Amino acid sequence: MKKGLFIVFEGPEGSGKTTVAGEIEKFLNELGVDFITTREPGGIAISEQIREVILNTNNTKMDGRTEALLYAAARRQHLVEKVIPALEEGKIVLCDRFVFSSLAYQGFARGLGMDEVMCINEFAIDGYMPDINILFDLAPEVGLERIDKNKNREVNRLDLEHVDFHNKVREGYLKLLEKYPQSIYRLDAERSLNDVILNAKVVIEDLLKKNDFIK
Ligand SMILES: Nc1ncnc2c1ncn2[C@@H]1O[C@H](COP(=O)(O)OP(=O)(O)OP(=O)(O)O)[C@@H](O)[C@H]1O
Ligand SMILES: [Mg+2]
Repeated sequence: MKKGLFIVFEGPEGSGKTTVAGEIEKFLNELGVDFITTREPGGIAISEQIREVILNTNNTKMDGRTEALLYAAARRQHLVEKVIPALEEGKIVLCDRFVFSSLAYQGFARGLGMDEVMCINEFAIDGYMPDINILFDLAPEVGLERIDKNKNREVNRLDLEHVDFHNKVREGYLKLLEKYPQSIYRLDAERSLNDVILNAKVVIEDLLKKNDFIK
C-alpha cells in the first residue's frame, strides 16, 4: 500500500526540470523529509537495456508503437524496482518525467494518439499515478535557446524543425492540462530561475503540508 508521495516534473527540453530538481533536493533535505530523486530510466539495469534498444541507431525499422511499448516497459520496470518500494517505505519520490511525457511526445507530437498511448501505459503503471505532475511550461524557442546557449552554437535548420516538433509537444502538454486538471500544476517556466524554483518550492511545500509530511 502506497504511503509516500509521488511528485513528477514534466515539460519540454530546456524547461528547467533537472536544474530545479537539484534545488528541490536541497529543499527537501532542509525540511528533513525522507525522499529519493530519480528519472526514467532511473539507473535500473533492465530499463537501461530497453532504452539502448530504443536509441540504437541501427534500429531504423523501429515502429512507433513498438517504441511506445518499449518506453512503457522501461517505465514499468523503473516503477516496480525503484519507485514503488520507496513509496511503500513512506518516502517522497521526485521523478524527472513519467507517463505524461509519453502522451505529449509520442501520443500527440508523433501522432500515435494520446488515448492509445495512455492505454498501454495504464497496463504498465497499474494505478500508480503521480500525486502531482508539475508542468514546466514555456515557449519551445525559449527552452531550445537555453540549451543552445549552453552548447555555444548557432541555431541551424534542424534546430528549426526541432522547434516545430516541440511546439507540438507543448500543445500536447496543454491538452493534458485540460484533460487532467486535477493531476497537473502548470508552472510558468519562462520566468527567472529563482522565480521558478520559488514557485516549485511553494507547490511542493503545500503538498507536503496537506499530506502531513511537515507542519
Ligand atoms: N528559468 C530559467 N531561466 C534561465 N535559464 C534556465 C532556467 N531554468 C533552467 N535554465 C537553464 O536552461 C538549461 C536547461 O535546463 P535543464 O537542463 O534543467 O532543463 P530540462 O527541463 O531538464 O531539459 P531536458 O528535458 O532536456 O532534460 C540549463 O543550462 C539551465 O541552467
Ligand atoms: Mg533534464
